[in-house]
Amino acid sequence: MARIETQVGIVGAGPAGLMLSHLLHLAGVHSVILEARSRAYCEERIRAGVLEYTSVRMLEEAGVGERLDRQGLRHRAIELGLNGVRHRIAFEELTGKCITVYGQHEVVKDLIARRLADGGLLHFECGTVSLHGIEGNRPSIRVEAGGNTDEIHCDYIAGCDGSHGVVRPSFPEGSLVNYERTYPFAWLGILAEAAPTRDELLYMHHERGFALYSMRTPSITRLYLQCRPDEDIADWSDDRIWNELRTRLSCKDGWRPSEGKILQKGITGMRSFVAEPLQFGRLFLAGDAAHIVPPTGAKGMNLALADVHYLAEALAAFYRDGDDRRLTSYSATCLSRIWTTQRFSWWMTSLLHRFENASAFDYKRQLAELEYVMSSRAAATSLAENYVGLPLHEA
Ligand code: FAD
Ligand code: DHB
Repeated sequence: MARIETQVGIVGAGPAGLMLSHLLHLAGVHSVILEARSRAYCEERIRAGVLEYTSVRMLEEAGVGERLDRQGLRHRAIELGLNGVRHRIAFEELTGKCITVYGQHEVVKDLIARRLADGGLLHFECGTVSLHGIEGNRPSIRVEAGGNTDEIHCDYIAGCDGSHGVVRPSFPEGSLVNYERTYPFAWLGILAEAAPTRDELLYMHHERGFALYSMRTPSITRLYLQCRPDEDIADWSDDRIWNELRTRLSCKDGWRPSEGKILQKGITGMRSFVAEPLQFGRLFLAGDAAHIVPPTGAKGMNLALADVHYLAEALAAFYRDGDDRRLTSYSATCLSRIWTTQRFSWWMTSLLHRFENASAFDYKRQLAELEYVMSSRAAATSLAENYVGLPLHEA
């Protein structure tokens, strides 16, 4: 059995765990990352694609924005649509800021490459992880693989292991309160070999349900359709998917989505979830391990990056000055942004989806709200400032 000593043990090599490890390295703090999956799996997993202005600045300032600046697609606006009529929400004009379309797996690739170049300790396909001594001053992470057991002894453990990880379930019974909401629909997402024919994302409300037109590169589009949560992807032939996308996204001015070979398809359920607080003793939660947002506001990866920004600063202050005040306030600092983001993601979701059980009154009210956002500069500014990302305040 190998015994490894480190300052911060990190479970999970998604955007949260990798960025935390990188920021700690920049602050001279040692960490070890344990990841259940292979490097290839992490680098190819297709997920979110929109980076807030705030996240782009964070990645650039941390010296990992070089490829993002070269290959990311800078967007000055999104469009909202209602039954084939579009309206542009001009972020740059309303807030002075832009967003960048750059796949989450590209962020992950950049961070892995940088961590390895800097000599970081990253264990892919690590085996089964369990936590021990979490009530004491030197907790440990036990990793069992192929009859071998390693123990990583840490000052602190960061749970960056997503919504199905081991760190949150290791919090003692009764130490967390969960807040949750599920939605009566899911998203069917595809990646298609089709050059985007719009420069900006289009969020369309249609009486048959929501659809989203997005992209990844100048030759690849990313599209989503609202579907039932229990839907089987096997029931969705490529033809059926394109028919539905065409019906929902086609516009009165003649624009329709470009079509091509479907490279990947999948269904993702939608929920809002927060576990409070994000700390127990020397354990901390960050990213999807602590919260889930429905994807409509494009916030999942961005919120994960904001959490680790605060966690890295708090740990750096502790190791630099022996000051643990930011560690103590980490949970409250993050929760303020988390709830602001939960509200926005819930609101975008409620605004744009078709709720099958809504009363006729509620549906009329929803359409009136969408028309208001599409016609009022004040309402559009509120959407814009949340979408581009609220500034990270001093903790
Ligand atoms: P993750 O990226 O989930 O990383 C957690 C890591 O921990 C993973 O690599 C996992 O393998 C590892 N891990 C888990 N358990 C263990 C363990 N026991 N031991 C070791 N390692 C472990 N957001 C959007 O805004 N738009 C989208 O379109 C969108 N699509 C999504 C599609 C899917 C299928 C999912 C699951 C999420 C999607 N999200 C989307 C959300 C967004 O991708 C997440 O918010 C983001 O990945 C959070 O980053 P993270 O680092 O906290 O967690
Ligand atoms: C994408 C995903 C989102 O959840 C969103 O709101 C916008 C774009 C995307 O994957 O491109």
